[in-house]
Amino acid sequence: MHDVFTSDLLVGKVAFVTGGTSGINHHIALRYAKAGARVALIGRNVEKAEAAAAVVRKAGGEAVGLSADVRDYAGLEGAFKAVHDRWGEIDIVIAGAAGNFVAPVLGMSSNGFRTVIDIDLVGTFNTVRAAFAFLRRPGAAIIAISASHSTMPVAAQAHVCAAKAGIDMLIKSLSLEWGSQGVRCLGIAPGAVENTEGMRRLAPNGAENLQQIFASIPLGRQATRDDIADLALFLVSGAANYINGTIISIDGGSLNSGGQRIGEMLMASVEDARVERGHP
Ligand code: HXC
Repeated sequence: MHDVFTSDLLVGKVAFVTGGTSGINHHIALRYAKAGARVALIGRNVEKAEAAAAVVRKAGGEAVGLSADVRDYAGLEGAFKAVHDRWGEIDIVIAGAAGNFVAPVLGMSSNGFRTVIDIDLVGTFNTVRAAFAFLRRPGAAIIAISASHSTMPVAAQAHVCAAKAGIDMLIKSLSLEWGSQGVRCLGIAPGAVENTEGMRRLAPNGAENLQQIFASIPLGRQATRDDIADLALFLVSGAANYINGTIISIDGGSLNSGGQRIGEMLMASVEDARVERGHP
């Protein structure tokens, strides 16, 4: 934990994290648990959810793993109810479940496009909608995990760009409706983050592709998962009490250097895959 934060910052708080079984979301949950929160990790696969919770418990935190697909409203509502029954009002919601694959518009079906919209955008709607009845009001904070894709167009990522842009506007609109209830609605928009499923999907060839991505980042490196968890912790702390209805970029300045280079690299990787499959 970054040394500006204390280990009792979130004692008594309850956090509900969708997509909490891996990557950024799991790291945020771990950080919250280390700051004293009880965390519920939600994922599609029950074994993975339980294993992810066991990792948090092994680190000294209090955690439970539950299975729900964010596309299934009733299942998600059931998970909120189970957490509320167990620990009481929910203070923090991380809407982090996401899906991605690399494909140009002409390389995906309507169902492929809809699948990512369903997981990312409708899944975020389902999460916040189902959360409301169980939130501490006033006092709760909701953070959606967006991406630099929401404002920076990237070729071979039109589905993700559209979904993440929708998430940003959902959160901003929600802040108008729920601010008066004392619920803060926020987004975190990371760029490239090391050791995540997202980067493995965007850069399946590893170091060579990643070097091209790094070259376009003004700070010259990807974010670490700690960088993202630090921001997520700050946003639910008292120091962020007046921050509401905004999406915070955490991308080393990438938005200023544009997504064209990343898109060119992704389009080239799609071409390589077509050639490998024997469809030149
Ligand atoms: C074209 C594809 C495709 C591909 C899937 N589809 N992969 N189309 N190119 N590479 C199409 C399928 O053909 C199908 O359409 C439709 O998408 C649904 O596919 P399913 O496999 O049936 O869906 P499902 O099992 O629900 O899986 C959803 C998924 C999958 C998104 C496709 O990858 C997934 O579950 N991902 C979750 C984990 C994940 O992606 N994490 C990374 C998040 S990273 P048809 O028409 O054939 O039925 C992230 C960060 C973004 O979001 C920003 C990074 C900087």
